[in-house]
Amino acid sequence: MIYFDNSATTRPHPQVIETMSKAMSSYYGNPSSLHRKGVEAENILNQARAVAAGYLGCKPGEIFFTSGGTESNNAAIKGVAFQYQGRGKHIITTQIEHPAVYDVCKQLESMGFTVTYLPVDHEGRVSVADVQKAMRPDTILVSVMHVNNELGTIQPVEEIGKWLKQFPKVLFHVDAVQGIGKVPLRIKESGIDLLSLSAHKFHGPRGIGILYKREGLIIQPLLTGGGQEAGVRSGTENLPAIAGLAKAFRLLQESGADEPSRLQRLLEQLREGVSPIEGIQVNTPAKGTAPHIMNLSVPGVKAEVLLHSLEERGFLVSTKSACSSKANEPSRVLMAIGVGTECASSSLRISLGRDNTADEVEQFIVALRDCVKTLRSYMK
Ligand SMILES: Cc1ncc(COP(=O)(O)O)c(C=O)c1O
Repeated sequence: MIYFDNSATTRPHPQVIETMSKAMSSYYGNPSSLHRKGVEAENILNQARAVAAGYLGCKPGEIFFTSGGTESNNAAIKGVAFQYQGRGKHIITTQIEHPAVYDVCKQLESMGFTVTYLPVDHEGRVSVADVQKAMRPDTILVSVMHVNNELGTIQPVEEIGKWLKQFPKVLFHVDAVQGIGKVPLRIKESGIDLLSLSAHKFHGPRGIGILYKREGLIIQPLLTGGGQEAGVRSGTENLPAIAGLAKAFRLLQESGADEPSRLQRLLEQLREGVSPIEGIQVNTPAKGTAPHIMNLSVPGVKAEVLLHSLEERGFLVSTKSACSSKANEPSRVLMAIGVGTECASSSLRISLGRDNTADEVEQFIVALRDCVKTLRSYMK
């Protein structure tokens, strides 16, 4: 099978698996224990924090390990909302956020907060001017994702963050889960206060993520208990996963800018190959997107039918984002860019990763052409 579903999750790198296995068998102490096994585990934890901080260009004390992107988003948004509700109860976000932000905002609305969900243009991009217009005296948080998980569109988070610097009491959260290792983002220069990451999107293990929290910023912890992670996230640290995450960061560092450029070339090859196919509409814009995501629709053909037809030919892709792909509704993200229900109900996401090759992309184009031709012939 050829795996083109890297935005849903990536295959853990063999070196990540090796590191985790070693951490599990050798460093099984609890980092909070005072004996040598505890100290050993604590050293691994500190090293991992330093590796993550080095990659992100921040201080180790600004890195907090969580169970993944969903938890980091919840911790950031609810943490700010509950801590600063005395100042105001207004939050600004977008219509195209991942459910781990969008549904958190919906939940907060049911608790008395007010949320502005900003629209996006036909390319799936929010405008800085709209953020500016939405600001109110009671705004406490702006949350905008870095790279959209369905379309790949890059959001102007650097510009938004720079503009927000003049409102030090309005905090800025970025869900950077899809951009890491693919699209550079300067956390400090962009005035980002909180940022979410997830290791399984860059060949690390599942169930481990990072919440970056600017030094000195206080938020209400989601999980209280033993006071691990400086009280921001209690619970015995998942050391093997943390070691695996650090390894995944090291591998990203080693691959440098070459890997995003390679992915970009594959994506261009894919676009050139699929665009001329009759009946296909490419929803991902040609510019200003991450190098690994391509969204397309075959209006009139149900996305699920196309997905299984591609699977029969050996290719694994997604309809919408993996977590909402079982819900039988048109994609909220595609509806937001105004493509209409038919297109939004027939969209596929092809997402590339470090294991994919030009040869696989070529094979995919041939298979897609064949699938679309066959399925459209049934419609006639
Ligand atoms: C943009 C975005 N945010 C958050 C998440 C959730 O991350 P996790 O699966 O680690 O909870 C995902 C995963 O698909 C995502 O794409």
